[in-house]
Amino acid sequence: MSSGNKAESTARGPAGYPFVGHLPAFLYDQLGFLSRCAAEYGDVVKLTIGEPTYLLNNPEDVKHVLVVNPDNYGKSPRMTSVSGKRLSGSGLLTSVGAAHLKQRRMMQPVFYRKTVESFSHTITTGVATMLDRWTDGMQIDLGREMMGLAQKNIVKTLLGSDADQEMPSLLEAITVRRRYMEHVFFSPFPQWMPSRIGMAYRKAMRRIDGIVYRAIQSRRARSADGEDLLSRLLRARYDDGTGMTDQQVRDEAVTLFITGYETIAEALTWTSYLLSQHPEIEAAFLSEVDEVLGRRLPSVEDLPRLTYAGMVLAESIRLYPPTWIFIRVALEGDKLPSGAIIPAGAKIYLSPYVMHRTPRYFPDPERFNPERFTETAKKERAQFAYFPFGGGARVCIGEHFAKMEAILTLTAIAQRFRVSLVPGQAIVPDPKMTLRPKNGIKVQVHRRN
Ligand code: HEM
Repeated sequence: MSSGNKAESTARGPAGYPFVGHLPAFLYDQLGFLSRCAAEYGDVVKLTIGEPTYLLNNPEDVKHVLVVNPDNYGKSPRMTSVSGKRLSGSGLLTSVGAAHLKQRRMMQPVFYRKTVESFSHTITTGVATMLDRWTDGMQIDLGREMMGLAQKNIVKTLLGSDADQEMPSLLEAITVRRRYMEHVFFSPFPQWMPSRIGMAYRKAMRRIDGIVYRAIQSRRARSADGEDLLSRLLRARYDDGTGMTDQQVRDEAVTLFITGYETIAEALTWTSYLLSQHPEIEAAFLSEVDEVLGRRLPSVEDLPRLTYAGMVLAESIRLYPPTWIFIRVALEGDKLPSGAIIPAGAKIYLSPYVMHRTPRYFPDPERFNPERFTETAKKERAQFAYFPFGGGARVCIGEHFAKMEAILTLTAIAQRFRVSLVPGQAIVPDPKMTLRPKNGIKVQVHRRN
């Protein structure tokens, strides 16, 4: 298929080494390498990273891949293959084509704004419990603290009151599972090779399955009348009126355990860090929190008035998008709106990190400046210059949930504490499955009067 009016062009890129292409340069410094390539070669950069690879850095091209011609751009086989599904379940994340569309249509209502707002109390209760543990002057690892909080939130959201009993065992199993995923993605050894972490992973999955299947059975026995996410998944219906099998519900629950906390934890960590480094922005943020909330815990009714908090979050996710890259594969050759020709089989890199730091769309890109997200500023920018949640039919289904959880958490923390960076640390983003601080971020917490 061909599209756009621009003349055909051949994408350019830096010279690579024979056989290994750009793989060594990419692995050595993924963020730096891709950013430098985009700065030098512009809209579309041609690379060889395993296969012919195209980094897209033009918002119209990104829109083309995600929204205009998505049927030509499949998800990476690493995710959708049998072994990918074995790791992540046959849920929304790994299904493709008609199966994905069917599953997505059925699950969408479970993630409508109004529905996810019913989980706000779980979130504010979780953060209040965490803050009760904090004492003035205490030092914490922000990343670890936010990860623990977000993990508990997704478990509570999914399992409701069943979670209390299962919490410690589930948290441990989810953590083992996350470590194993990273091991598989970043280890040079194949997945089938015996390893201690592989054994721990299989044990953790048996534990997760046991808990999830028990929770499914107990809900089925009472017609899934609860308000937790699992009950809502059990009540969800396809167009023909049927619901999911136990196995499908289990797969979707596992998908949500995978997707529903790490990204949020990182957004919370980076935002708190950025606020600690920008006193004027922090002051404006705190003044909105005090004015809108006073000493009352935030609730969903407050969200429309916490506009500056929303801008701070959006700007933090611009600089440190938790999903810093995602990948597609071109099924057939195509011409992009920028004019670049994409051959069949090429890998497509869509990197919010790189796009969000492009001066053409975000002048002075390294500067933390929430004013980039006023309604006027947003309208003036190309739509896909900012795409932290992806786009099109596969846009993040948890976007409302994530934003709500992040704003409720950040404002509830700000009511009671400020954080300051413990001196002597180098804060470096580490592009793993998601974008996290390499050595954590140690902060001191200060109780506000
Ligand atoms: C700041 C937090 C989050 C960020 C930055 C984020 C980002 C993304 C992105 C970029 C995608 C699209 C990936 C692609 O097209 O290949 C995605 C998909 C997805 N996200 Fe999120 N996400 C976040 C939070 C959440 C939460 C809280 C949940 C669930 C409760 C969730 C569930 C999902 C699912 C199930 C998909 C797959 C959707 C599909 O393919 O139809 N995400 N997310």
